[in-house]
Amino acid sequence: MKLFLDTANVDEVRQGAAMGVLGGVTTNPSLMAKERGADFRQTVIEICELAKGPVSAEVTALDTAGMVAQGREVASWHEHVVVKLPITPAGLAACRELRGEGIAVNMTLCFSVNQGLLAATVGATYVSPFLGRLDDIGHDGMALVAELVEVFRVQRFETQVLAASIRHPLHVVQAAKVGAHIATMPFKVLMQMVQHPLTDVGLERFLADWERREVPKPALA
Ligand code: G3P
Repeated sequence: MKLFLDTANVDEVRQGAAMGVLGGVTTNPSLMAKERGADFRQTVIEICELAKGPVSAEVTALDTAGMVAQGREVASWHEHVVVKLPITPAGLAACRELRGEGIAVNMTLCFSVNQGLLAATVGATYVSPFLGRLDDIGHDGMALVAELVEVFRVQRFETQVLAASIRHPLHVVQAAKVGAHIATMPFKVLMQMVQHPLTDVGLERFLADWERREVPKPALA
């Protein structure tokens, strides 16, 4: 399973990339809006350069022609751009058209297997089930991720399941267990994955022992 960051913050992408674990990045209009004053195009290009992998950039048009036009535009910014489209009737049609032109598409806001099936049918490169938002309303978000993985495997779809709306490190472990191809997470969750109090204590002890070691005295001349 690849690990993506779900952020539009360039510094977070830089830090994730420096750790050597970053497979790609997903953004959305809400995440972009959090980066106050940042230019959309410039930010996407900068993130693409740092991530060196797929970077989802979402369109805001609601009609097929508008989505296709915006999709072509953002895809022209960098070879790593993946056009993010909502799973709506207009979004599905736009996906089919953009995929026909060889443009990678991430179909987002997936809350049911049927929506995922439709996205795969129009050739989506990725489909993003929002598991945290399903959990928020008392549904089992991870069950949707697992079902999508199973359905795509049985039906031999090449569409990859990109587990999104991840809220904590356990979500990442569970997504890996059910076979999600990708998990995209906030920077905070990536940091929670690497941190463990016993690692900190253990490292402190190793270094203290190293400082206290007995060093052979140099022989007198
Ligand atoms: O990028 C889409 C998704 O990951 C959003 O997550 O936390 O806003 O539900 P969240």
